[in-house]
Amino acid sequence: MIRVENLTKYYGKRLAVDKISFNVGKGEIVGFLGPNAAGKTTTMRILTGYLAPSGGEAWVAGHSILSHSLEVRQHIGYFAEAAPLYTDMTVRAYLDFLARLRGLDKTEVKKRIWQVVELCHLEDYIDVHIGKLSKGFRQRTGIAQALIHNPEVLIMDEPTVGIDPIQVATTRQLIKELAKKRTVLLSTHILPEVSMTCQRVIIINKGRIVAQDRIENLSSLISGSKRIQVEVSGSPAKVTERLKRIPGVLNVSYQAPSHIIVCPLEQDLRGKITEAIFQSGWTLLSLESVEMSLEDIFIKLTTKEEAA
Ligand SMILES: Nc1ncnc2c1ncn2[C@@H]1O[C@H](COP(=O)(O)OP(=O)(O)O)[C@@H](O)[C@H]1O
Ligand SMILES: [Mg+2]
Repeated sequence: MIRVENLTKYYGKRLAVDKISFNVGKGEIVGFLGPNAAGKTTTMRILTGYLAPSGGEAWVAGHSILSHSLEVRQHIGYFAEAAPLYTDMTVRAYLDFLARLRGLDKTEVKKRIWQVVELCHLEDYIDVHIGKLSKGFRQRTGIAQALIHNPEVLIMDEPTVGIDPIQVATTRQLIKELAKKRTVLLSTHILPEVSMTCQRVIIINKGRIVAQDRIENLSSLISGSKRIQVEVSGSPAKVTERLKRIPGVLNVSYQAPSHIIVCPLEQDLRGKITEAIFQSGWTLLSLESVEMSLEDIFIKLTTKEEAA
């Protein structure tokens, strides 16, 4: 449903997207994961026809983004990172405006507005001015506008950024619901978000795709170690040295005020760590297991690539 081949984008001399290629099949929900400045928004803006690529080609629902950008737009719903909402319009007026702009006829428009309003749970807010809505409801209005022309493909750029945790949960649920009938490409810089909503993930870093696989395969790729973070009262260098001597510990680093201990996944070293600190006469102020960060994963993936 989405096919991308060697897509490249330069902003002046800056290379933002570097010959990326990927496919998204009909009905798939794919996560487009990467840290800030990875090139996610740029790629999505190219796919939705808002930005011309410097090289390469892409097709959406069989239409070329270069030669048939109008058809592409008809098949795509786009939730932009900073969704341009008209704050002095009501939700209804805004959706009506966009529906007409996208070529729906009069009789269709009314019906379609109700459908998307129900889908996005905006019933109670349909006549409220967008400027008066909370962030979460504004974001749902943004999703509703992406759906108004009933597109087969939905492109969502960081749809859960900047909203409170309860709204985030509702939005993820909504995305899953939407994906039942559509092809979805969803960008995020939050790792757990991908496993919660997507079947497959494409990882991009510095404009390049570093991995793409099904979630279950990827988690085995990134597993193999876990991290424990401790805060200890004692000279950082001495603490590092002592922790490194614990059998099983793979690595220790100090990121003030904590020490990060890398351990094998299958071993629980928390008891030994506590004991070592106690026996050295220090106080353990905190101990917690931390998930691998995206940065850790990129380091792992990119080193792996170079080693191969
Ligand atoms: N309009 C622009 N002009 C110049 N550089 C840009 C512009 N938009 C993005 N960039 C740069 O391109 C790179 C990719 O940005 P972006 O696609 O927004 O990444 P992401 O969405 O993954 O955070 C970054 O280095 C960013 O600074
Ligand atoms: Mg972005």
